[in-house]
Amino acid sequence: MNYLDELQLSDLQQEVEQQRPDLSFFETYYPKLSRSPEIQKIYSLIDKIARSNATVLIQGETGTGKELIAGAIQAQSLRSREPYVTVNCAALPEHLLESELFGHERGAFTGAVSSHVGKFEQADGGTLFLDEIGDMHPSTQAKILRVLQEQAFVRVGGQRTINVDVRIIAATNRDLWEEMESGRFRTDLYYRLNVVTLHVPPLRERSEDILILADYFRHKFAAEIKKQVGDFDDETRLLLANHSWPGNIRELRNLIERAVLVVNPNHTVTAKDLAMTGKDYFAAGGRDRRRDEKRGPSLFTLNLEELERTAITIALQRSRWVQKEAAALLGISPRALNYKITQYKISHASWRKNSA
Ligand SMILES: Nc1ncnc2c1ncn2[C@@H]1O[C@H](COP(=O)(O)OP(=O)(O)OP(=O)(O)O)[C@@H](O)[C@H]1O
Ligand SMILES: [Mg+2]
Repeated sequence: MNYLDELQLSDLQQEVEQQRPDLSFFETYYPKLSRSPEIQKIYSLIDKIARSNATVLIQGETGTGKELIAGAIQAQSLRSREPYVTVNCAALPEHLLESELFGHERGAFTGAVSSHVGKFEQADGGTLFLDEIGDMHPSTQAKILRVLQEQAFVRVGGQRTINVDVRIIAATNRDLWEEMESGRFRTDLYYRLNVVTLHVPPLRERSEDILILADYFRHKFAAEIKKQVGDFDDETRLLLANHSWPGNIRELRNLIERAVLVVNPNHTVTAKDLAMTGKDYFAAGGRDRRRDEKRGPSLFTLNLEELERTAITIALQRSRWVQKEAAALLGISPRALNYKITQYKISHASWRKNSA
């Protein structure tokens, strides 16, 4: 079944991209199309909090769409016409990050030949998106905390206190709770940021959405290069639906972009089109799927551990992550399931909340 054809999404999509290039598929359709209860919850929460000035912390694995969510919150906020400034806290070394955030005065350090307006000042009246906040150095964490509390700071090498009105959205692909418990992230900053927290589930925990997104990317990339591309064949759909997607939506997107390029025009997309040049994609990028070199990509692994892990994940999804119910589905005791969950390092946001 092709979900998007069913919804005539390709037409809608084209219309949107022509008329409103500022809106992505994500903002326009994903909330409506997603069949994942977790995603629905995230959107209803976004609806409720977007127009407030509450600090939002977005947590989720790499490639789950945190940046898009931050942008969606900003777009729905009362500050949507005000500056939206992004800082990647992991990209800059400590001393540069501070000057980037707070600005510096001329002569503050060697090389500071002129003064510099930092991101907090640039974002005044609007929103500051602190991306990869879990990677921030402890001394910068302390300074950020002060700004959040006082909405005021001084430039590096400066004297004057500068007041700003900035709404903060922060994101990280680290488990900030764990970072805090192990002392790498300040407790006070954690609680300060944690006013509203969105846990974006990894793609393998919203497997209902894999094919919806895959179809969307197939339409999108085909339209971009004006190529007639057929549907995915059944094997490919199974392959997509069963992969564990360690790189999440980014991985899916890249994979489909490539498949659309290599597939023969007017042909269905087959498993062969999903393979990376010379290598089985699922071996190169997949955490769980190993490769049988001679046979190329294969969905039906015989590796017992992989089968077990897949069965456990599917059972947990079906039972909405209630371990007792999943154990019943699997025909094992809850204790045995718990042991295997630890063994395979399977985790889910709802478990943390209950145990915290
Ligand atoms: N719902 C969605 N619909 C369409 N595209 C999406 C969706 N979610 C994510 N993407 C795409 O997936 C890619 C990764 O998304 P994004 O950059 O927001 O991830 P991230 O969570 O910030 O990852 P990282 O932690 O690595 O920075 C982007 O190309 C984005 O456009
Ligand atoms: Mg990101």
